[in-house]
Amino acid sequence: MTKITCFPDNKIIEAHPNKTFLENLLSEDVPHTDVCGGQGNCSTCRVMILEGIDNCSKVTPLEIALAERLDFPFHVRLACQSLKLLPE
Ligand code: FES
Repeated sequence: MTKITCFPDNKIIEAHPNKTFLENLLSEDVPHTDVCGGQGNCSTCRVMILEGIDNCSKVTPLEIALAERLDFPFHVRLACQSLKLLPE
């Protein structure tokens, strides 16, 4: 199973492939901001993927629109939208 290492606490959680990144974090009691409640409107849930970005799903049109507007680099993703992890 895929693991997520959360910084700065170095907490390691098991990632369930049918959950978004945000859902995985919150279900493991990792505090994470999600001002719009996971609707893809606020960008406060953004995460930086330091390793394993190839294991993440493709960027959605919603993420692309926000990334272009806010000038995110490719390794910054919205935890609430498209980070369902692909099976290894
Ligand atoms: S929680 Fe608002 S964009 Fe993800």
